[in-house]
Parts: sequence; C-alpha cells; structure tokens
Amino acid sequence: EVQLGLLPGGGGTQRLPKLIGIANALDMMLTGRQLKPKQAKKLGLVDEVTPQANLVKAAYELVNKIRAGKFSRQKSSLTTAALMRWALEDNKWGRQILFQQARKKLLAKTLGNYPAPEYIIDCVEAGAELGEAVGYAKEAELFGELVKSAEAKQLIGLFFASTELKKESGIAEKDFAQLAELKPVSSVGVLGGGLMGAGIAYVSIEKANIPVRLKDRDADGVLHGLKYSHNIYDKRLKKGYISLSQKAEKMSMLTGTTDYSGFAQVDIVIEAVFEDLQLKQQMLREVEKIGRADIIFATNTSSIPISEIAKASQHPETVIGLHYFSPVDKMPLLEIIKTPKTSAEVVARSVAFGKKQGKTVIVVNDGPGFYTSRILAPYMNEAGHIVAEGVAIDKIDSALKKYGFPIGPITLLDEVGIDVGTKIAPILESAFGERMAPPASFSKLIDAGRKGKKNKKGFYVYPANGKGPKVVDESVYKDLGIQAHNNMDAVEIAERCVLQMVNEAARCLEEGILNNARDGDIGAVFGLGFPAFLGGPFHYCDSQGIQVIVDKLKHFETIHGSRFTPAKILLEKIEQNQGFFE
Ligand SMILES: NC(=O)c1ccc[n+]([C@@H]2O[C@H](COP(=O)([O-])OP(=O)(O)OC[C@H]3O[C@@H](n4cnc5c(N)ncnc54)[C@H](O)[C@@H]3O)[C@@H](O)[C@H]2O)c1
Repeated sequence: EVQLGLLPGGGGTQRLPKLIGIANALDMMLTGRQLKPKQAKKLGLVDEVTPQANLVKAAYELVNKIRAGKFSRQKSSLTTAALMRWALEDNKWGRQILFQQARKKLLAKTLGNYPAPEYIIDCVEAGAELGEAVGYAKEAELFGELVKSAEAKQLIGLFFASTELKKESGIAEKDFAQLAELKPVSSVGVLGGGLMGAGIAYVSIEKANIPVRLKDRDADGVLHGLKYSHNIYDKRLKKGYISLSQKAEKMSMLTGTTDYSGFAQVDIVIEAVFEDLQLKQQMLREVEKIGRADIIFATNTSSIPISEIAKASQHPETVIGLHYFSPVDKMPLLEIIKTPKTSAEVVARSVAFGKKQGKTVIVVNDGPGFYTSRILAPYMNEAGHIVAEGVAIDKIDSALKKYGFPIGPITLLDEVGIDVGTKIAPILESAFGERMAPPASFSKLIDAGRKGKKNKKGFYVYPANGKGPKVVDESVYKDLGIQAHNNMDAVEIAERCVLQMVNEAARCLEEGILNNARDGDIGAVFGLGFPAFLGGPFHYCDSQGIQVIVDKLKHFETIHGSRFTPAKILLEKIEQNQGFFE
C-alpha cells in the first residue's frame, strides 16, 4: 500500500502491530518491504513455514490442531529483541520514544514528500494510545484522504503503467502475430567483467536462470566479473537465505574466459566494454565471426547511437541496445533501443529476455543518448551551470533531494565519475549543439585530476576509512575559479534542473525517440530517480499545467538563453488545449 501512496486500510495498521510488535509492523508498513518465509516465521507473522510439497498436509494438520483446541500461537521467547520490545512498546513512555524516532527517521528519508508513511505512523499511534476503535476510525479517515491525494494518483498511475509494460512484447501486435515462434534466449555471452558486465551476468543467472559465459580482456577483469556474483551469493548464504548447494548451483552457471571459447553457441552477446565506438565495433566484428548467424548483438553503451555501432555489422537486423542502469541488480529499468534496421523478432526476444531478468522494459528508438542519457545530460549540465555561477555544491544537492530525487546531481556526478561525464557530454553536444554544452569551466576539474568517488577526488571529500559525514571538498571551488555562495532559492535551483530534463523529454516524444509519454515517465522514474510522487516528466507537465511549464521555461530563457527554449510539442499541446495523458 505504501508504495502506492496509500496505507493498509483493511485494518492492517491496527492488526499487524498486535501480531508482530509496533516497531516490526512499522518497518513493514513504512517500506513495503517483503519478508522471506523464515523471517516471517521469526517475527510471528506466520505460524508455520513448510516446503511447498508438504503444504496441504501441513495445513490439514494445523486445522485439526485448532479444531482439537490444541493450537496456541507461540509467544516470542526471552530474546534481546523481545526484551527490547517489552521495554519500549509495553509502556507509554517507551512508545513515545519509538514513535518519535520513527517519525524522525522517516522525515529524514522522505523530506515530507510522501504523506502515506506519515499517516501510517499516526494510525498505529492512535490505536496504541487510544484504543482499537479510535485506531480503526483514524485509519478509515486517513485512507480516504490518501486515496484522493495527488501523490497516490501518480504512484498508482506508475504501478498500472509498469503492469501494462509487463504484458507488452515491445513490438506492434501485427508484427508479433507474424512471428512463427519466439525463440527464448537460453544462453548469454557478456563482454567486459567491469561494473556493468558483472551486474548483467548476475541478473542473468539469478533472475533469468540462464547460463552466462563472461569474457574480459584479462584475468583480473574476469575475476571481477565472477567475484561480483560470488560476493552477493556469499552474503545471502551467511544470512541463511540460501544453502551452500544453491550457491554452488548458481555459480556453476557463470563461467569466465579471456578468449571467445564458449561463445559459438550463445543466443545473445551483451557487450559492456569501455565507452569507445571503435572498441565496440571491434567486439561486434569478432562476435559475428565466431557466433551463430542469428546471434543477437546487444550493446550496453550509455551514449553512442546503436546505428553507429551497427555500421560494422554484417547483420544489422541483429544489433540492438540493452541499456542497463547501475547497480544492475537493484535498478528496475532496462531501456531497449532499436534501430530502423533491428528486426521485430530481435526486439521481441530481447524484451522477453529483459523481463526474465526481472526488469521493467521500455523500448525506444535510436539516437544520441537514446532517451534516458539524453534527458539526464541537460539536467546534470544545469546543475553544473549553477555550480559555475558559484552556488554552494551541497545547497544544489539538497535542493534536488528536497524536490524528491534520491540523490543530488553533483553527488551523482561524483558517483558516476566526472571523467565518464566528460566522455558522454561531447557526444551529445555534437549531436544537439549548444543547449547540451556542459559549463566550460568543468574541463578544469579533469585538469586537476578530479574523477569523483573512484579516485577519492571529486566535489566531496572521501576519507580513506570511508567514514564521517559528507562534506564538500572546498578546494574544488578554487579549481573552478569561483567563490561559493548561498544566494539562490532552493526551488529555483531544482526547477532549473528539472525543467531541463522535462523539456528534453518532451523533445524525445516530439522526435519519436519515445513511442509514448507513458514510457517516458517510466524511464525517468525507474532509471533516473525522477520523483515518483510527481509521476514522471509527462505527468508532471499535466499536473502542473503545460502553460505553467512553458511560462517557467520562457522566464529562464530570458535569463540564461536558448537552452531553455520550450520544446515545440509543449507549445502545440497548449494550442490544442491538450495534456499528454488527458
Ligand atoms: N557505469 C554505469 O553506471 C553505466 C551505466 C549504463 C551503461 N554503462 C556503459 O556500460 C559500459 C561499461 O561500463 P562499466 O562502468 O562497466 O565500465 P568498467 O570500466 O567498469 O568495465 C569495462 C570492462 O570492459 C573490459 N574490457 C575492455 N576491453 C575489453 C575487450 N577488448 N574485451 C573484453 N573486455 C574488455 C575491461 O577490462 C573492464 O573490465 C560502457 O559502455 C558504459 O558507458 C555504464
């Protein structure tokens, strides 16, 4: 419920705390976190856990026990957790501390952007302090408010959009009907065992249950690629979620190589080598030489047009973009990019494969930066321009976090790598001109050896022990030749950045990079962390009013120039008195 902007309105806010304790119940209800069976048993949420094969038998036995009056629910024993619970939850003062802490922790996370979790705490508190009847009444009242809220409307909209996407094949229905059969991808080759390659290999064996052959140029690269999965399984083993044999079984699906041995029979190769056109084309030629004629060649490039890479191909109908997001095992989006030459069959097989990897898949058309990188670039650039104007770095980051992004743009740049940013920027600038130009002074950062978190030298300080509060590396202002100030309103900072993203998203729809506004919203929210409660760039336009968006763009245009010129499609929508959805 909380993920839809609602609360557990069927009595959940009153009954769950009674069953598993207030703190445990709040944790579940405020996050929407799901439990493993063992955890659910430990918490007392379920009475028994049994292997699936034994389910019906166990159920009969339990029912018979209840009928015979021999069943009693196990109370948690004298564990530290139970004592803590008793100390905190069984007396008024303890509970007061607990609710206070829960509110504080919650607000630090949501910054007040999500009303539902706040209301959940209110309901639980009402029940605990004033009794069940008051609790139920409160729950009904607040549920009613949430159902009507703008936040719930957007979150529910996103839920329906992603559910719809799960049912789509990624190609037109008539094309799908024409396909004789959709041969599922049953073996994968991954090129590059770096950050992305390792993550792609992991979701392929773990979620899709498909064997992976991973190639890197050297043994270290292969080792990195294998170790990534190994470490994840090791953690899960230690926590008791999987057995040693389950880990061994999964790891046996992932093998490494420094040559192309084992690649002759794979159905799809996903390359995740360095962002370099020549290198990617070389990979393509090598794969086509060694692989089957119908092998799918997928590239995980973040900015190079797929058609450019496909120029090196003998079979351009088999070349496609599979753009994953970092960290691959956590980020829900897969952006699939088709070129005018990619066959419908290759698109449909790739979409089916992406879904098996557990991804929400959008299919977009080819162009520099496709959709997500293209709208991220001007957003990041704008944050850069604001830095260049002297606004304090932490002020910019906190302005966008307050607006609803999970992390600020400057922190993001440090995470992704300032050097990576400077590789992608020229590609987009040469394609779209001045409006995509990063601030000129940013080249000084590279001259000063600032790459970001990876070399512990970026906008923020990265202490060797990785501890301590996050602080800006003040010397960066000197490198940029500026004096930091705080003289810009947080909303102005956020709107400048967000409007850049929104305007570019509109252009992507106008130019047919996006097939529809829905995919644009899903891509921005699931891939880039656009605030979910705002629904994505297109729902944001509709809810704010396109006229309001255009007025703001024009206002910034008069101050900062043509990079804020509104997209044509926005003006057309106003003329036609239409929104993107309604
Ligand atoms: N890092 C991200 O957040 C992100 C997100 C989406 C897409 N991408 C894209 O994914 C690709 C890989 O990025 P990354 O961050 O994983 O880079 P990385 O530097 O971590 O990994 C690249 C790997 O490719 C290997 N490699 C280089 N040449 C090779 C060759 N000839 N044969 C086999 N392996 C070779 C390297 O040894 C290295 O292990 C890039 O195109 C990047 O733009 C990155």
